[in-house]
Amino acid sequence: MAEATTTQKAVVATGTGEDFGSHIVIADVAAPAGSPADGFVRVKVAAAALNPVDWKMVKYNFLVAVENQVLGCDVAGTVVALGAGVDELAVGDEVFGFQSIDIANGTFQDVLDIPAYLLLKRPAHLSATEAATLPVALYTAVFGIFRDQPGAGASHAFERDAAGGAPFLVWGGSSSVGQVVIQLAAAAGFHVIAVASAKQHSYLRELGAAVTVDYHDDDVDAQIRAAAEAAGAPLRYAFDTVSVATTLRSAKLLDASADAPGFVTTITDVPEEAVANVSVIHTLMANIHADGDKKAFMLDARKKIAAWVAELPVKSNPVTVIGTTWDAVPAGLERQHAGVSCTKLVIDRAEA
Ligand SMILES: NC(=O)c1ccc[n+]([C@@H]2O[C@H](COP(=O)([O-])OP(=O)(O)OC[C@H]3O[C@@H](n4cnc5c(N)ncnc54)[C@H](OP(=O)(O)O)[C@@H]3O)[C@@H](O)[C@H]2O)c1
Repeated sequence: MAEATTTQKAVVATGTGEDFGSHIVIADVAAPAGSPADGFVRVKVAAAALNPVDWKMVKYNFLVAVENQVLGCDVAGTVVALGAGVDELAVGDEVFGFQSIDIANGTFQDVLDIPAYLLLKRPAHLSATEAATLPVALYTAVFGIFRDQPGAGASHAFERDAAGGAPFLVWGGSSSVGQVVIQLAAAAGFHVIAVASAKQHSYLRELGAAVTVDYHDDDVDAQIRAAAEAAGAPLRYAFDTVSVATTLRSAKLLDASADAPGFVTTITDVPEEAVANVSVIHTLMANIHADGDKKAFMLDARKKIAAWVAELPVKSNPVTVIGTTWDAVPAGLERQHAGVSCTKLVIDRAEA
């Protein structure tokens, strides 16, 4: 007689469409059974955080690889089983990390298997809910600054204080990704100019921003230019977390020439309009499991990322717990879509 499959509650996408909320439901899915695949780690979820991509993939019909795909990327939890070849983690370890979207088996469920290289041990300064806010933002920031954006002819050094005080514009500094970009760029020695609502400025300075500018002001561009001038070096680097329009605006603010080009990282879309001597670089955390280059970078950078998180230490996004069961996720995704400010919406399963 076949063994009965154990099921668990999960947040799944039943289809895609503009009305994304009508395609996101709570359903019973098969819980993982047997040994995890080689290189994978089975994690019991303590907390999972919501990201824009969770509703975007449903709304814009991308990367939903299977019917009834379980949604969710960010996670913190406990290792409950190991696949063959995993030697850096052990059963019982408290970990945090993210599920690569191309694996199509997300974190909004109680137990799931995740590649070991996408998990780090959770450092003592972060609770599970705090740690769950970080992985997507952390890796997007690391890839965007240290892997994808060239500095003066080479990648920015992934080293403390290597940038020598060069100005670095972070447009969208209070977003989830922006908060981590500020921390890492400041640690790397950049003079960070962060653009966000005034109500978040004191917090962003605590994270390491040298200067904060309110994007609601009439003279935003003049404030940014003045801040760069005060830093004493041309503004050649920017990281935009908001939109095509703000990526283009950031590009136009750079002090770039043929001999000293500028670089803007975007994590949304590349503008159609080009700006002389400025390269716009699109950083994308998707498909990391399938992309050999991204995977190789992660395997190489993992130890350093873990060290920076523990030693800086990297602060989590401020946490907003929206519930203790998966039932709270659909409304949470509507709330994320409507707009959040300087916070991450989190499900706290440990409190259920
Ligand atoms: N390519 C990738 O791999 C990747 C990875 C992660 C995220 N993303 C994308 O990156 C974007 C940001 O994600 P997230 O999770 O960081 O977003 P989030 O935390 O939901 O972003 C909300 C923030 O956006 C800020 N904001 C809105 N309009 C702004 C403007 N005109 N100027 C400056 N700030 C503005 C708000 O700032 P105030 O509250 O201060 O007004 C708010 O704090 C999303 O589109 C997401 O899908 C892409």
